[in-house]
Amino acid sequence: MSPVQARVAEVADQVERALDRLLPTGEGLEVRLTDAMRYAALGPGKRLRPFFAIEAGRVLGANETAVLRAACALECIHAYSLVHDDLPCMDDDDLRRGRPTVHRQYDEATAVLTGDALQSAAFEIVLDPATHEDAEIRAELGLRLARASGALGMAGGQMVDLLGVRDDLDGVARMQRLKTGALIGHAFEIPLVIARADPAARSALTGFADDIGLAYQIVDDLLDVEGSAEEMGKAAGGKDAALGKTNFVTLLGLEEARHRVAHLADQARARLAPFGPDAEILRLSVDFVLNRRS
Ligand code: IPE
Ligand code: IPE
Ligand code: MG
Ligand code: MG
Ligand code: MG
Repeated sequence: MSPVQARVAEVADQVERALDRLLPTGEGLEVRLTDAMRYAALGPGKRLRPFFAIEAGRVLGANETAVLRAACALECIHAYSLVHDDLPCMDDDDLRRGRPTVHRQYDEATAVLTGDALQSAAFEIVLDPATHEDAEIRAELGLRLARASGALGMAGGQMVDLLGVRDDLDGVARMQRLKTGALIGHAFEIPLVIARADPAARSALTGFADDIGLAYQIVDDLLDVEGSAEEMGKAAGGKDAALGKTNFVTLLGLEEARHRVAHLADQARARLAPFGPDAEILRLSVDFVLNRRS
């Protein structure tokens, strides 16, 4: 196992245990909902966003408990976004993380409520005084999480995706910035806010987040064509194009899309120069994240 693989696995384990502790457990009939929330949020996710938050937090020397809780909140929002993304009225998918999607395992109404309640859980976790002693820091984390997930962030991007009004590259890039970029961007906002980082660190990590977020979505679009459902644990085989969706690969073609990922990866690594050797794991994670097959 390479150092970066080991670190990603270590962080994923830490996040899994924290989520297990932080997610609610019901007592009466609502257990169906709390079980579905756990089904959606626990299990074989890559925990990429928490990895970025925690590893960047280590580089910046940010308070670890605060970063972990805020990263768990972000992961709850991400899990909610996937539950709703898979619904029949959206991408209509049956498989997620190698298992039946929440509406297949439970039912559609439960899946809607699972997304709703995971979103509430996210804000409950991040705004709890246990996250940070300074109420201003907690408020800023909550505000930024709301922005990243709302109408001018992830949810807005999902709207643009569904409308499909984007036959040009700028349109697809804008959709991506909202749909995927905003939550990946928040992963880096978490340690920046908690460490009260200086403008130079902010600008380096914000640039890194933009590059890696864009590259991540292009890889997702490549895997939609080139990956297998077995490896990825979700639908593949050109599903986006079959649904008439425009994405980076349908617009650019495979070759040019791969070329863009390589360029963004170089640019992302260069952004970390100000942190020197401290950012080695983050630097190595670029290839790890972009060479993913799942
Ligand atoms: C999938 O996200 C949705 C995209 C934004 C491409 P991930 O690839 O992070 O999915 P999990 O959390 O590992 O299942
Ligand atoms: C979904 O993008 C991104 C969000 C859930 C916000 P996709 O629809 O491409 O994600 P997958 O491929 O189903 O994971
Ligand atoms: Mg989708
Ligand atoms: Mg989808
Ligand atoms: Mg996809």
